[in-house]
Amino acid sequence: MSVREEFDTWASDGRDKGMEERHWHTARHVLARMPVEPDDVVLDLGTGSGYALRALREASNIRRGYGLDGAPEMLRNARSYTDDPAIAFIRGDFDALPFADDSLNHVFSMEAFYYAVDPLQTLGEIRRVLQPGGTFYCAVNYYEENVHSHAWQENISIEMTRWDRREYREAFRDAGLFVAEQDNIPDRETEIPPAAAFPTEGFETREAMVERYRELGTLLTVGVAPEQ
Ligand SMILES: C[S@@+](CC[C@H](N)C(=O)[O-])C[C@H]1O[C@@H](n2cnc3c(N)ncnc32)[C@H](O)[C@@H]1O
Repeated sequence: MSVREEFDTWASDGRDKGMEERHWHTARHVLARMPVEPDDVVLDLGTGSGYALRALREASNIRRGYGLDGAPEMLRNARSYTDDPAIAFIRGDFDALPFADDSLNHVFSMEAFYYAVDPLQTLGEIRRVLQPGGTFYCAVNYYEENVHSHAWQENISIEMTRWDRREYREAFRDAGLFVAEQDNIPDRETEIPPAAAFPTEGFETREAMVERYRELGTLLTVGVAPEQ
């Protein structure tokens, strides 16, 4: 199944909003760390419902936000959630970003980067479109250290890339981005039931669920495009 087919189905089922609710727990902390300024242009890579751009416009009044996604139904939903003329939703693929060299101040991506068919090519594209000093805030829940995420691949037909922390740093550097920061952002909002409720559908023990959400959380890697 293609990205379009897989995620169009998600969007038609209303799962874009479900993702927004779950991802917001940690995405909002990532967005708060981004050094955005009022005149900035920001790309949200794999935008889904487009919540990140709506939030950035509210909090920072960025000049322009582009939400790129490969699934037309996702984009249709995202457009229906805002009438802000400074936000545009664009159909495209991570492997060939439809932006000029040095044209963006920041790229944000939540739970999307690892779907890239060729993640090194995608990093090269991000490096190309970022202005010197521009940043890439890459947030993922599917990564090697998060053993609780490993089974996710079984439920989706698209090949996913499962790098560890070091592999993220190395790939960023190979693409010409400085690694400014790497961090685990805990999810403190997902409710964790008392021990007696386990095993649940998702977790054998309460300790495992605590590790998944409160300790491992979302892996954030921040790349910075060098001054030329
Ligand atoms: C799991 S969703 C995450 C959406 C949103 N960022 C969030 O936090 O809820 C991943 C999104 O990336 C998009 N996507 C995945 N691979 C893609 C690719 N190669 N090119 C363009 N979009 C892609 C999907 O269509 C989907 O909307």
